[in-house]
Amino acid sequence: ISRYDHLLLVYNIPIYLHFVYAFFSVNRKRWLVPAAYLFSFSLMFFTQSQLYLIGSYKYYFGFFAKGGPLFYLFFSMNSLALLYCLYLSERQIKEETNPVKRNQIKYIFLGFGVYAILALLNVLPMSGIEIYPFGNFGFIPMIILAFGVLKHDLLDMGFLIRKGMVYSLITGFLMAFYAFLVVAFDMIFKGFKISDFFFFPVFLFLIILFIFIPVKEKVQVAIDRIFFKGKYDYQKTLKDISQAMRSVLDMEEIVNLIIDTVINSMHLTNVSVALWSEEEEAFRVHSVKGEHEKNVKEIELRLESPLIALLVRQKRELFRHDIEERNEWMSNKRECLRQLGYLHASLIVPMIFNNSVKGFISLGYKKSGDLYTSEDLELLQTLANQSSISIENARSYRTIEDLNKNLEMKIQARTKELERALLEKERTQEQLIRSESLAAVGQLVAGVAHELNNPLSSVSSLIQSTVQSLEEKDVKGGYEGEIIDDLRFTLKELRRAKEIIASLLDISRQTKVYTEPVNINTVVKDALRVLYNQYKRYEVEIVEEFHEDIPEIKGNFANLGQVCLNIIKNSIQEVKGNAGNITLRTGFDQKGSRVIFECTDTGKGIPPSTIKDIFKPFFTTKEVGTGTGLGLYISHEIVKRHKGDIFVFSTPGKGTTFRVELPVENNVTIQAESGKGT
Ligand SMILES: Nc1ncnc2c1ncn2[C@@H]1O[C@H](COP(=O)(O)OP(=O)(O)OP(=O)(O)O)[C@@H](O)[C@H]1O
Ligand SMILES: [Mg+2]
Repeated sequence: ISRYDHLLLVYNIPIYLHFVYAFFSVNRKRWLVPAAYLFSFSLMFFTQSQLYLIGSYKYYFGFFAKGGPLFYLFFSMNSLALLYCLYLSERQIKEETNPVKRNQIKYIFLGFGVYAILALLNVLPMSGIEIYPFGNFGFIPMIILAFGVLKHDLLDMGFLIRKGMVYSLITGFLMAFYAFLVVAFDMIFKGFKISDFFFFPVFLFLIILFIFIPVKEKVQVAIDRIFFKGKYDYQKTLKDISQAMRSVLDMEEIVNLIIDTVINSMHLTNVSVALWSEEEEAFRVHSVKGEHEKNVKEIELRLESPLIALLVRQKRELFRHDIEERNEWMSNKRECLRQLGYLHASLIVPMIFNNSVKGFISLGYKKSGDLYTSEDLELLQTLANQSSISIENARSYRTIEDLNKNLEMKIQARTKELERALLEKERTQEQLIRSESLAAVGQLVAGVAHELNNPLSSVSSLIQSTVQSLEEKDVKGGYEGEIIDDLRFTLKELRRAKEIIASLLDISRQTKVYTEPVNINTVVKDALRVLYNQYKRYEVEIVEEFHEDIPEIKGNFANLGQVCLNIIKNSIQEVKGNAGNITLRTGFDQKGSRVIFECTDTGKGIPPSTIKDIFKPFFTTKEVGTGTGLGLYISHEIVKRHKGDIFVFSTPGKGTTFRVELPVENNVTIQAESGKGT
């Protein structure tokens, strides 16, 4: 080394200090840096004097400078500065929690530290000890540092290198362009030196500005392609994904978007996204891409698991190598590493929303074998935070959707209830009208029947005695014989008329006085027995579905028997000869405390136009002589007296159901109407 080199070498101290101060943003003892510069500056003047270097030694490897007193001062100061810087770096490594940053510091610590120590060892040959100057090996740590810079993008050099190259290339290009213009113009306008012209530089400046921007972009893209193959455009990736995410309200889509973006821009072995599930109270892997897809898909991590506990506590990314290197929480360390192993993750980035961890992205390894750079981390963090917002949005949206659906369902249910209530109301109204009109008609009928009863009685007894006296005359054959036959037929018809009147009076006056506990099943069975001969003949299939556990009601057994008989008889008449069937059902409606009897047939049904008339007395669609049209009228009256209801449901072409409902508690006291004797 020549004497002149020491003019610069003395600045070792301030430069080293300055770098460490700036890199770690050290705040205390800031005066040290200018003081060091001052010291070196003053020392610089002495380097050329005998006070600093006195001659040289001759060693087996060549000549080497001999240090003077001032050199030893420099050496001591330099050693102190070095120790101080190493101390600062060491402290910084301990304090730094960001693993990427720590990695950077380690490389720098190692590179500069070892270099400085080697350089300091030069003091040995300078002091007359015949040892090869280790300072000459200073290139080794520098190579390591350079390697680290390139490999791990320490100091974010990638970015700097890129920028530097872009600008030097452009400058070169522009200078060439400028030179070309000047030469070209000078050649064209020979003699007239255009480059001397005052406005020429201004004009050129404008042209350069005009072409600078597009050229810069082109060069940047070209350089990216050549030197940073596959390196993604951080800003663009982020812009694209934020734009895409903004419009997506589906959780699935958002998660897939994150995974695709990450895996494609960083070329990773595998990526998965786990989301917090409120119901399961755990983080569940929602989606996976890359290797080990199947195994990762099933994973569920509870809050208590050490890995999750750490993530939730730190609320920042976790590096696998970071956990490996730490030893503070040894007990959990192995468990954490195992869980990372399950996830096949080397890095976990939490998704934070409202200051709580809502999920995490777990990332495998880069296929290139590189470590994650701070640029990657920045992208991942931004991505995680942005997606957590989107996911929360999607969640809220889903909740609202569910609520809406619920509401709709509730409205539907309510509407149905209302419809049912309305139908019920209509039916009751109908029944009321029916009862009232029937009551009016019934009164009329009862009155008429009563009035008819007496003349009918006298007419029949008159005819009876006429028949008797004719018979006594012993008329055989001939004219009188025919008269007797006609009279007998008349008598029979009169008896039928009296029977009708009797049943009408029966129902209107209600001669039965007593009530008793009645089991509806017995009533139906008895009615069936009475009808047995009829339906046996018609080969009608009768299905009995009796509910055995039915409470008894208070009522009149014979009357209720008549109701069942009338209804079943109608059904038999309806289905006979049509291979139809009849189902008899009894039941108990607990809510209304009502006993139910139902008779369903598969007959023709009742047309809507006549259904309102069927309870009216004398309404019949049957042939003359077959039906009187009193069956349902009488049944209706009896049911009313038991405080019950009678319903009819009929679908023309399919069949008819009559339903009788009788309350268990009815306070019915059927009393004879006294006075109006026959
Ligand atoms: N199960 C049924 N299927 C179809 N129509 C029916 C049914 N039950 C009753 N009807 C109709 O209602 C009318 C009235 O019935 P109701 O029992 O009161 O009188 P009827 O059967 O005609 O005569 P009665 O019963 O007095 O002998 C019937 O004529 C018939 O048209
Ligand atoms: Mg009938």
